[in-house]
Amino acid sequence: MTLAVARMPAVSRGGNNIRLLDTDTIRKDFPLLSRKVRGKPLTYLDNAATSQKPQAVINKITEFYQQYNANVHRAIYAIGEQATLEYESAREKVARFINAWDTNSVVFTKGTTESINLVAYSWGRHNLGPGDEILITEMEHHSNIIPWQLAARATGATLRYIPIRQNGTLTLDDPGEYFTDKTKLVALIHQSNVFGTINPVREIARLAKDVNALVLVDAAQSVPHSPVDVRALGCDFLAFSGHKMLGPSGVGVLCARPELLAAMEPFMGGGEMINSVTMEESTWNEPPWKFEAGTPNIAQAIGLGAAIDYLETISIDAIEEHERALTQYALDTLSAIPEVTIYGSEVNRGGLVSFNVENVHPHDLAQILDQKGIAIRAGHHCAQPIMQKLDVPATARASFYLYNTPAEIDVLCDGIMESINFLT
Ligand SMILES: Cc1ncc(COP(=O)(O)O)c(C=O)c1O
Repeated sequence: MTLAVARMPAVSRGGNNIRLLDTDTIRKDFPLLSRKVRGKPLTYLDNAATSQKPQAVINKITEFYQQYNANVHRAIYAIGEQATLEYESAREKVARFINAWDTNSVVFTKGTTESINLVAYSWGRHNLGPGDEILITEMEHHSNIIPWQLAARATGATLRYIPIRQNGTLTLDDPGEYFTDKTKLVALIHQSNVFGTINPVREIARLAKDVNALVLVDAAQSVPHSPVDVRALGCDFLAFSGHKMLGPSGVGVLCARPELLAAMEPFMGGGEMINSVTMEESTWNEPPWKFEAGTPNIAQAIGLGAAIDYLETISIDAIEEHERALTQYALDTLSAIPEVTIYGSEVNRGGLVSFNVENVHPHDLAQILDQKGIAIRAGHHCAQPIMQKLDVPATARASFYLYNTPAEIDVLCDGIMESINFLT
């Protein structure tokens, strides 16, 4: 693995001083980034959907299958012990990365979606009832809406929404309207996958605690891009996905307060999550294994551990700074194109920009850009209530990561200009 810790000097583009990571070195670690797509160098700007993987992560997964592929927690032989050790060591890396309460407060799941569903089933179905309220926001990803709609339907609880402004920020002028003694759970997105908004989670957690409500944070877009300290946030549950943070698909995390995990019912039943089983009844394993029924995603969890090693080598603070600079550059260059409308607030936003181009459907734009090797996202971003709020069918979205460069944003802007000339 190349150690891409060198920082480039501040460079000036469009009048802005930008302090960037050494992307020339970093990009060499990502084999996919050097391939051509439709005869053009790939410009990958869909990192909010999923990130590319460094060779170190690919190697670690290969190493598992080549050298110690065995089931975990049960094999009494060398490679089984090694697999278990590596799997549990990945859990320790995750715990350290987000400052979890303890290692066993980290449950491996399939991804953010499964983590939130786990809470909605194992906690929600047993602790909510008629008269109770679940409070979410109007800017949630579907994975933090549907589980609560289902939980509300199953328990008789009511689902309420903190409204958002057109610029993608929460309206919290009158918290007493939403945080009441009926509120049992507040579930919110940390960084919006549409607006980029970074929500004031600590402040919201304090409001929730004042009414004795639990707090779940959807950190799918924050943990990969900025330092997240689960304990400092003041939340009770934190969910995120490995594939958005350089790890493989098929692994995610639910981090929860140990006392909650201990009290919660299992999510799925099967092997490994039990202590003892008779034909009449069973008792449960300790958390986190109580929530990891069946053979877990062993290779994927080990790959996520390698992804965290890589992120720490670069430094998550430096990645955040790099993305902040790129985002500012993207906002400046995109807003110089008169036909472009950018969504989201100007301040306190993470590394992505959603936009529309006058008289060009985002799907047409994405298709034309694809011909130039540029990968952006176009659609509703699994956040249809936001599209309804903005009164648009869809938006285009460019999202950045540690390997993206200002030159790629120039390529995007040139592609947009050409699309405008071609389509309008
Ligand atoms: C904010 C947010 N939450 C949840 C998810 C769902 O993540 P996954 O599909 O990995 O479960 C996403 C994915 O795009 C997301 O952006």
